[in-house]
Amino acid sequence: MIEKYSTVNDFDEAQNEYLDLIYEIMQGRKRGKKPIAFIHTYGCQQNVADGERIKGMLSKAGFEFEDEPDNADFILFNTCAVREHAEDRVFGNVGALKNLKRKFPDTLIALCGCMMEQKHIADRIYQSFPYVGLVFGTHSLHQFPELMYKALVTGKRVYALDNDDNLVHEGIPIKRDGSFKGWLPIMYGCNNFCTYCIVPHVRGRERSREKDIIISEAKEMIESGYKDITLLGQNVNSYGKNIKDGVSFSELLSEIDSINGDYWLRFMTSHPKDCTRELIDTIAASKHVSKHLHLPFQSGSSRILKLMNRHYDRKKYLDIVNYAKSKIPDVSLTSDVIVGFPGETYEDFKETLSLIREVEFTSLFTFIFSPRVGTPAAEMDDPIPSSEKSKWFKELLYVQEEIAAKRCSSMIGTTQRVLIESEKGKDGILNARTSGNIIVETEAPKELIGTFQNVAVTSAGRWILRGKII
Ligand code: SAM
Ligand code: SF4
Ligand code: F3S
Repeated sequence: MIEKYSTVNDFDEAQNEYLDLIYEIMQGRKRGKKPIAFIHTYGCQQNVADGERIKGMLSKAGFEFEDEPDNADFILFNTCAVREHAEDRVFGNVGALKNLKRKFPDTLIALCGCMMEQKHIADRIYQSFPYVGLVFGTHSLHQFPELMYKALVTGKRVYALDNDDNLVHEGIPIKRDGSFKGWLPIMYGCNNFCTYCIVPHVRGRERSREKDIIISEAKEMIESGYKDITLLGQNVNSYGKNIKDGVSFSELLSEIDSINGDYWLRFMTSHPKDCTRELIDTIAASKHVSKHLHLPFQSGSSRILKLMNRHYDRKKYLDIVNYAKSKIPDVSLTSDVIVGFPGETYEDFKETLSLIREVEFTSLFTFIFSPRVGTPAAEMDDPIPSSEKSKWFKELLYVQEEIAAKRCSSMIGTTQRVLIESEKGKDGILNARTSGNIIVETEAPKELIGTFQNVAVTSAGRWILRGKII
């Protein structure tokens, strides 16, 4: 069921006043010339986008940013709960800060993000890490200045966790990490409740941002030189479903695509159950949308897809993919897949392998099932030992590696338009990316970073292409 929500432009005077107060406090508290913050984000691009808002707020309070925590007056881990491994890394990194806090007791250590929306985790932090002074969940981002102010002035631990307010908060300042590649959230939360997934439990119900706000943010990004913009949401195809006078995701995409400029538009993630032919037609007809579709299939077995509550089967998935292949020449398909879901047999797993072979994905994000507290899958019988799951996982990587290598070598001799992104090392080689999201290594002056170039592909590795700028 879709719940009601509304948009509030509530990053208001009050929160801005807290930022001014933090600025004042930090003048007397900073260790160096300027207050320094270390912000480390785990997890998906939604979290990265939240991290950019936290940096936006801290910039307004006079902070500068460093990549190491050693000199920081404020340390924040923006956490991810999607798999156990992600959580373990956070516990390890927070544990490692004990000595730093002992040496510099004025340093404020904080935790936020998806992990903090789980009570058992917040309790563990409270018990085991008394030097963590501020903890807040994904629903409290817009109140960050107030919470930080309270932690700074009281010196007591501030925990803001039960704030499931179901609103879209606008007006939060942003400091983007990149100058030509950027994230643009179009919706928050998820209504799908896949049985393995913690995201709906920690991010709340689906809430779409208003179209006009998204369009003006997109225009602003394009005008200020962004060349590769990714629209973000856990299921972007659901965009607008629960908004007054809502437009569909395809309509939103077309409208953004009509903004003049030289840029690529991407989006993630699409859910196969809502991936319509209309959307594929929109991509095919667009000027700026990259010919790349990230469409997580999770499993090739219809039986397992049912247990996962994915609302599509193998046939429906392959139908969409084949339609996309027929309409978008050279479409690059990428996906997410889970190995070892509870009850999965080797026969089910073989169906995953055969789907991978049939689709020929450019690349895959591969995961071994990780039980998440509070999700139905964590309670399901899971008789396959993890050593066996690891064997299947390796087999899958091997199959995908062959496919990716074949796909890359088929591109030798072609010319690809690429966006030059970064230096690879110090040897004059730059990393670029095709519209289909394949890395291309090319020798070029670093002044070309952030520009589009045409590259003649001369050779290929297993996952990457190499070529010469023409
Ligand atoms: N909303 C997106 C979708 O439905 O495809 C992706 C969300 S999730 C952040 C990214 C990926 O993590 C999922 O596609 C899934 O493959 C994987 N994932 C989520 N929960 C998992 C779990 N409990 N164990 C292993 N992998 C998981
Ligand atoms: Fe998780 Fe499924 Fe929602 Fe994706 S669609 S975030 S996998 S519940
Ligand atoms: Fe992780 Fe939260 Fe994203 S759980 S994958 S950071 S939505």
